[in-house]
Amino acid sequence: MAFEFIKQKLTKQKTLSRYRQRTCIQQSKVNLSTVDNEESAQIIVDGKTYINFSSNDYLGLNNHQQINQAMQEGIDKFGLCASASSLVTGFHYAHQALEDKICQWLNQPKCLLFSSGFTANVALFQTLGQEVNGDRCHFFLDKLSHASMLDGAFASKAKVQRFAHNNTEQLAQLLSKSNSDHKLIASEGVFSMDGDQAKLTALQQLSHEHKAWLYLDDAHSIGVIGEQGQGSSSQLIASNEDSSTSHIIMATFGKAIATSGAFLACDENLHDYLINFARHYIYSTAISPALAWATIKSIELIQQQQWRRDKINELSHLLIQQLDPSITIIPSESSIHAIIIGNEQKALTISQQLKKQGIWLTPIRPPTVAEGSSRLRVTICANHNENDIKHLAKSLNEALI
Ligand SMILES: Cc1ncc(COP(=O)(O)O)c(C=O)c1O
Repeated sequence: MAFEFIKQKLTKQKTLSRYRQRTCIQQSKVNLSTVDNEESAQIIVDGKTYINFSSNDYLGLNNHQQINQAMQEGIDKFGLCASASSLVTGFHYAHQALEDKICQWLNQPKCLLFSSGFTANVALFQTLGQEVNGDRCHFFLDKLSHASMLDGAFASKAKVQRFAHNNTEQLAQLLSKSNSDHKLIASEGVFSMDGDQAKLTALQQLSHEHKAWLYLDDAHSIGVIGEQGQGSSSQLIASNEDSSTSHIIMATFGKAIATSGAFLACDENLHDYLINFARHYIYSTAISPALAWATIKSIELIQQQQWRRDKINELSHLLIQQLDPSITIIPSESSIHAIIIGNEQKALTISQQLKKQGIWLTPIRPPTVAEGSSRLRVTICANHNENDIKHLAKSLNEALI
């Protein structure tokens, strides 16, 4: 029968406890009130309310009244839809204003908007990964890099090598052996499933030594790290005019920024190159100008409201303090706190147990994470409160010890 493999593959997923299903969230009770300190991180599923510990709305900005108002204003000014690709008539004033805002925020020369972080990553790697006069570009990716970075890299004409997670010694060896004049080191700033940070100083050092470009996917650190939430790239040491090295930053709007879409910040040359050659940019409708307008408002709030980052830190410390010391949690300075369970079925069972306590914690299983490392990925957000955290810790202690 045609495409018989579909059924077979789905059946296999079920036997491996890896079958994935969506959950329909009836309502998110975030920011019901316009007063910042009355936010909540609750969701309603099948008529029952849960505290959501699986959201990427790290700063609790989703549904913020001022962002919603900006969205409406954007609709009134520009319409909801861009109605064309950026190179035709889809590039509106709202897009330009958002790009300018991001450049100023991150102190980067240029910025380009994409419909998602996945697309931005694929576009960058695929468009950059060329073979020029017999010299293949050479990409070096951290083993835990996001699927979209890997997909883009492997779909390109570049040579691709992966180094063990945060193993900069191994990266140094791989770089020394490369003959390519076009090397790119790629890493996430904060790793999505572990919550730990890249070794930025070492990566930057290696990028200088080997004249390699540095690519940072800051999806999980934008908004959360840095004095104005600029992300982990704010911890890079300002380059001293060395034009042979460069860094590129990507971040999605779909997590802490709480809108949708993504940006790539880079130098003018690369910006021009992507506009001319990135098929994902050229042949795709520009992001909604109203969303771009709302995103500017969100970034303004992120810059101004340090209390949201402070709250994530305070609540994260509270969680560690309340958890039984026998529970191993991956050390993290971010919103993400991963508790490794191991087996898929066990992770599913614990997640079900937590549900009975009114806690929503989706288990993360292979292939998203390595075999044997299924986990509970707890995200602590600025709209959680102390009681939420204490309840989570108590329920985890009961389920895991
Ligand atoms: C590290 C990382 N990069 C990129 C993406 C993709 O971003 P988006 O959701 O905007 O497609 C994600 C989202 O899951 C991510 O975790």
